Amino acid sequence: MATSGQGNEQWFERWREGRIGFHSDSVQPMLARYWSHLSVSTGARVLLPLCGKSGDILWLAQRGHAVLGVELVEQAVRSWFKDQAEALPETVARTNFNRFESPERVGRAGVTFDVGNFFHLDAALSDDIDAFYDRAALIALSEAARQRYALKLAELCRPNVEGLLISLIRDGQPDQGPPYVVTDDEVHRLFAPNFMLERLGDRRDERGMTEVVWRLCRRAPLSC
Ligand SMILES: C[S@@+](CC[C@H](N)C(=O)[O-])C[C@H]1O[C@@H](n2cnc3c(N)ncnc32)[C@H](O)[C@@H]1O
Repeated sequence: MATSGQGNEQWFERWREGRIGFHSDSVQPMLARYWSHLSVSTGARVLLPLCGKSGDILWLAQRGHAVLGVELVEQAVRSWFKDQAEALPETVARTNFNRFESPERVGRAGVTFDVGNFFHLDAALSDDIDAFYDRAALIALSEAARQRYALKLAELCRPNVEGLLISLIRDGQPDQGPPYVVTDDEVHRLFAPNFMLERLGDRRDERGMTEVVWRLCRRAPLSC
């Protein structure tokens, strides 16, 4: 599976060494606050690019959404199953990906992980995606990769598919990401060609980092 490369190797190292300061077992406050701003039905299937083992996965599944998480590092996914006290399911090998599925359970919808490189997802997957949620995915990528990411996301979304995206602004510090600063202007430049964009709100923390939450809605080709 072609997943390594200099940029990607850092993620394998981080997971191996437990340097996962980005991770939280609990739901992100911005997700809990703004998810209801989307018109996403209970059974909608939600794509989580670069998902890690985030607490957001379970939160969305508990709201009845079948979650499809895409994660480069298998260790992250194994760790998610361990945290849930679930046996690791048999892997299903797909082109470029290994799939791990946790079936629907009482109180939550099913969770599927595709382990591999997000940029290698097949556009045909768009048939299985009704919504998306990006927390610490766009901002985990270098500037050049962010351009590719925005195009890939557009490729994976059928017209009217909606999602939440969280970008990051940082006061007066050099950008040594990840996480990278992604200004409002850059968000517009990256996504406006293919998505309608609405800035829903922001939240500044004590370290001078501001998270900005966006609602994106995939435009129909050749419209708007
Ligand atoms: C900053 S973390 C965020 C994880 C999760 N979204 C969260 O909020 O905790 C970025 C994650 O993306 C994964 N990742 C990095 N590049 C990737 C790629 N090209 N395809 C899939 N996953 C990737 C990393 O292994 C890491 O778990």
